Amino acid sequence: MKIFRTKNELKEALAGLKAQNKTITLVPTMGALHQGHISLIDYAKPQTDIIVCSIFVNPTQFNDPKDLEKYPRPIEQDIELLEAADCDILFLPSVEEMYPANDPAWHIDLGDLDRIWEGEHRPGHFQGVTQVVYKLFSLVKPDQACFGQKDFQQVMVIQKMIEIKELPVKLLICPIVRNENGLALSSRNARLTDEGRNTALILYKALNHIKIANKSKSPQVLINEAKEIIAAVPEVELEYLAICETSTLHSASQFDPEKEYVVLVAAWLEGVRLIDNILL
Ligand code: PAJ
Repeated sequence: MKIFRTKNELKEALAGLKAQNKTITLVPTMGALHQGHISLIDYAKPQTDIIVCSIFVNPTQFNDPKDLEKYPRPIEQDIELLEAADCDILFLPSVEEMYPANDPAWHIDLGDLDRIWEGEHRPGHFQGVTQVVYKLFSLVKPDQACFGQKDFQQVMVIQKMIEIKELPVKLLICPIVRNENGLALSSRNARLTDEGRNTALILYKALNHIKIANKSKSPQVLINEAKEIIAAVPEVELEYLAICETSTLHSASQFDPEKEYVVLVAAWLEGVRLIDNILL
C-alpha cells in the first residue's frame, strides 16, 4: 500500500493509474478503523482496480470541539488493517493540507436534510461532511465511492451533493456491520466501557422491536413501545427515535405499502453519542 500525505503526491500517482484506464474507488474515513470500514473495502474490491482510502479527522464536521479532541487516532493500527485488507493507496493529509489558509467558504443547499435528525442535532455537521467529501471527490476524481448505511442520512446528503454538483461518481452503499451481540460498530465505541457497550445494545433491541412488529401497528404506537424499552435503561439518554420514509426521511404517520421505511435512532451513553438504524 502506498501512503501519500500531500494532494500533489496523490494526484501524480492517480494520473499514472488513470492513464492506464484503471477504475478507482474512494473509501473516505476518519480512521480508528474497524470491520465496518474494512467491509467497505471488501465490498468495493471486486468492482474496482484501485482502492483509495482516506483517513482524515475532518474538523469542519465536528459541532462539538470535545468530540473532535477525543476522536481516537490509532494510525499505526489503521495502516496495518488497511494493508491486511489489500488497500492500494492511503491518503493521510494534515488539516493544513486539506484546509489551506486561503480556502474558500463552503455552503451547499441540502434542503431539510440539513435541518432534520442529524442535521437538527449537529448543526453544521453535513456542511462539513459535504465540504470534505467534495474536496476528496475533486482531488481523486473516483469512478465510485463507498459509504456505509450506518450513517443513513449521510448517504442521502452525499447523493444530494452528487446531484447538485453533477458529479460523475457512482455511490456504493454497504450494509451495517455489527458485533456478535448486534451493536453497530463505530469508532466512538472505543470510548465506551465494557459495561457501556453492553448497555448500548438496548438501541438495537428497540430497533428490532419495531422491525419484528412488521408494520402490524401504527408508527406512533411502535415508537412509543420502543421508547419505553429504551427508557428502562436510565443511563441511555435518547435524542431521537423515528420511523421515516427512506426517500425523504420525513416521519411516517402511517405505513403506506408502496413506500419503504427506516427507523433512525440517536442517543447518548457515557458521554458518547451513538447512532443506529434499521430498514423495515
Ligand atoms: P467514519 O465515521 O470514519 O465512517 C467512514 C465510513 O464507514 C462511512 O461511510 C460510514 O458509514 C462507514 N461505517 C462506519 N461504521 C460502519 C459500520 N458499522 N458498518 C458499515 N459501515 C460503517 O463517515 C465518516 O467517517 C465521515 O463523515 C466521512 C464520510 C469520512 C467524511 O469526513
